[in-house]
Amino acid sequence: MDNPVLEVMRRRYSCRSYLKAPLDDRTRDELQSRLASPESGPFGGRVRFLLAAAAAGDEGALKGLGTYGNIRNPQAFIIGAIASGTGDLEDYGYLMEKKVLAAVDLGLATCWLGGGFRQSRFAAKIGAAANESIPAVVSVGHPADGGRPGGLQGFFARRTSRLAADRLFLSPDFGRPLGPGESGPLGPALEAVRWGPSASNKQPWRIVRAGRLWHFYIQRTKGYGQGLLNRIMGTADLQRIDLGIAMCHFELAARELGAAGTWLCADPGLAPPDDLTSYTATWREADSGT
Ligand SMILES: Cc1cc2nc3c(=O)[nH]c(=O)nc-3n(C[C@H](O)[C@H](O)[C@H](O)COP(=O)(O)O)c2cc1C
Repeated sequence: MDNPVLEVMRRRYSCRSYLKAPLDDRTRDELQSRLASPESGPFGGRVRFLLAAAAAGDEGALKGLGTYGNIRNPQAFIIGAIASGTGDLEDYGYLMEKKVLAAVDLGLATCWLGGGFRQSRFAAKIGAAANESIPAVVSVGHPADGGRPGGLQGFFARRTSRLAADRLFLSPDFGRPLGPGESGPLGPALEAVRWGPSASNKQPWRIVRAGRLWHFYIQRTKGYGQGLLNRIMGTADLQRIDLGIAMCHFELAARELGAAGTWLCADPGLAPPDDLTSYTATWREADSGT
């Protein structure tokens, strides 16, 4: 990436209205090459990515793909296909969010789309195999909405559109919020999680700190995604994707802050606050000097 990742995360927002101007060749080629870098997610899954982009003079190229509702003039879509397996949706969120940040780094605007797209057409576009799914896609383009509000307005908009940190981050168990000053040098990594996108802005991530171990949990929103329409449309379990996005933000921010670490499965067996909450994964900070 060209810019510091914390800055890119701060600049990212969900853009739903794009200029009717296709990506220029250089930007498209650069994004395409960033999509190509092979990588696996924390659970070992891999995603095949494809950039479906409109070309100059061929604005109709994306019409057949079909998104519903509120996305105006998308100029490209990042499509990903993942084979089913343990942690597939978390890996999808983690790996796709890296591509989102790569696009924002190039000066583009994006929006995750978890429901409003025709899965069969996007699957045909990327040539999805029988064991692969397209849990979500991302629209891309140059913003026509003036970008994320900056200055004081943006600061307050961000603050009010996220849950308070003391509801999201806890230590040493669910009974007590992580106090101010208790997050240490990784405080900005927690904030990076808070700024992250989540389906319907439900922010289902919870993180419990126990020393060098940062345990990630999903706290599901009751009834979310279980409506008839979701079932008919085959919408993926979007809140698991949200967890992958949170893991991506935390890790990239931590690395930029100079803290190495690894993902592992180390369920501490804490009593969750309710039956909507369950363990996902743990980030273990490396000992300093390792
Ligand atoms: C998995 C996922 C699916 C999403 N699906 C949609 C969608 O279908 N339509 C839409 O307009 N926004 C969608 N969003 C965007 C969220 O609404 C947005 O991230 C959230 O409201 C926070 O706002 P921000 O991204 O501007 O910070 C989705 C986000 C995620 C992470």
